[in-house]
Amino acid sequence: MMDAETALFGVMGHPVAHSLSPVMHNAAFGFLGLNAVYLAFDVKDPAGVPVAMRTFGIRGMSVTLPHKEALLSLVDELDPMAEKMGAVNTLCLKDDGRIIGLNTDWCGARDALLEAGPLHGKRVAILGAGGAGRAVAFGIREAGAFPLIVNRSREKGEALACDLGADFCLLSNFTGIGMDILVNTTSLGMHPDVDTMPVQAAVLHGGMVVMDIVYNPRKTKLIRAAESLGCRVVDGLEMFIRQGALQFELWTGREAPVDCMRKAVEDVL
Ligand code: ATR
Repeated sequence: MMDAETALFGVMGHPVAHSLSPVMHNAAFGFLGLNAVYLAFDVKDPAGVPVAMRTFGIRGMSVTLPHKEALLSLVDELDPMAEKMGAVNTLCLKDDGRIIGLNTDWCGARDALLEAGPLHGKRVAILGAGGAGRAVAFGIREAGAFPLIVNRSREKGEALACDLGADFCLLSNFTGIGMDILVNTTSLGMHPDVDTMPVQAAVLHGGMVVMDIVYNPRKTKLIRAAESLGCRVVDGLEMFIRQGALQFELWTGREAPVDCMRKAVEDVL
């Protein structure tokens, strides 16, 4: 039951109506019996968000597209990894009114892949060099893996590879040879009627772990092809759940009920 003590959390973005974060976080609050609620805020201009959080006592916010970069310069303190990644996906309001900007996307990617096996020393091909590619690349590198950035266009791919001190390969030249893990971070797969696979099936081999950050549809063409070859697969839902679980722990100091959060999201997908 909500009352005058109910703690307030939310997600801000534009558009935000289809966000699965409210379902996921409210399920976790309910499971642990916390007096808290998580709402969705459709925000076009993020400049007023810190003031709103302080004024209304909103203790934590998830940040989604298109505001992840804008928040970098709006917070009082920036976590070093959020700074390195050039994106904030989590805001925490401290007791003294300061707002801290963090990023849990990279840990979410790392933790989702760790579900499928160890990362240390593994060679990981990352398809795409946008914000999602950057999160995956930093996450796996922090876990001791070696990223190879594979991108359609040279400029963006080389820039990310340079930031990481990693190698770059043009998508058109990519063969998959020598790769232990392959992660699609492009949006290819979101529109199954028209989208092709981001790579030819010949690039995949049975010993690979294959992850797709696209989670709607849950089984993209890439995931289906990987499954049919006997690869271990990780779908994008796991990364979404894991980044959310870390937010929950930052905000509440409680261990996130990951299974309950996953089930809540699966039920609405
Ligand atoms: P996000 O921040 O969500 O990762 P983004 O910044 O738009 O999104 O980046 C999308 C990435 O997917 C880019 O690396 C893009 O390649 P380019 O740099 O060449 O644009 C890649 N991408 C998008 N559509 C693609 C497609 N049809 N085929 C191959 N790569 C694609």
